[in-house]
Amino acid sequence: MNLSPGQPIGIFDSGIGGLTVAQQLAQMMPSEDMIYFGDTAHLPYGDKSTAAIQAYSVKICNLLLSQNVKAILIACNSASAAAYDLVKEYVGSKALVYNVIDPVVQHVCEQYPGKRIGLIGTKQTIFSNIFKKKIDEAGQGIELRSLATPLLAPMIEEGFFNNRISVGVIEEYLSNPILEGIDALILGCTHYPLIAKEISAFYQDRVTVIDSSVIVATYVRQALEQAGLMNSPHEVTKKFFVSDFTPAFENSTQIFFKDKVSLEHYPLWD
Ligand code: DGL
Repeated sequence: MNLSPGQPIGIFDSGIGGLTVAQQLAQMMPSEDMIYFGDTAHLPYGDKSTAAIQAYSVKICNLLLSQNVKAILIACNSASAAAYDLVKEYVGSKALVYNVIDPVVQHVCEQYPGKRIGLIGTKQTIFSNIFKKKIDEAGQGIELRSLATPLLAPMIEEGFFNNRISVGVIEEYLSNPILEGIDALILGCTHYPLIAKEISAFYQDRVTVIDSSVIVATYVRQALEQAGLMNSPHEVTKKFFVSDFTPAFENSTQIFFKDKVSLEHYPLWD
């Protein structure tokens, strides 16, 4: 592998939810150049088949590799569940590949052995059973209770959080008996950090809400440090591409990413 610290980091998601992870990364690794791709033409991934998500992910990786990235972060739980193994094999030695599930599994296994942990995410993430498989493999006696919450991502993307609608939807989902008695709840979708406070409020802070964006950014920083691939301070460049452009997406980016973002349209599928 002939990678160098000066190359950018590539990040992708089905849309703009992955910007919550990109935001953390930018904060914790301020010297890294970044290329973000949101596949807005195919949003949401959570309801798509594994084969479709795999095909989209490979195309996006081609774009990111053509931009000479040193690492690719799949900043989407649905794509991490459906396509990480394939993408890792496909990318091979051309770049390092990370997902948003392994860092969280590692964190949970270290912090919550023997506990009952809840997980919410898209249908793709939950029905893939990937969190359960990985947590069980670690053998820490963790009991995972999973619930698909497909309304949450579109709700957040419409700007519905911290309002009556979001409180009602969150309450309805989290009251499901499957999540009874949990010690912590994994937010298994990169959109959910935006409703983390509402979720904590529902539990009156009795349940720890695990926001994966900080955990993932910490993991990627450590991995790049270990690989000797951290960039040195310079004026950084951040580029944001989407496969389908609407002004509404550009407006919504402001709620996910605090700096001003100007989206470039990159029609992958022509
Ligand atoms: N950001 C995606 C995830 O983390 C959810 C949105 C979607 O369904 O595309 O799973």
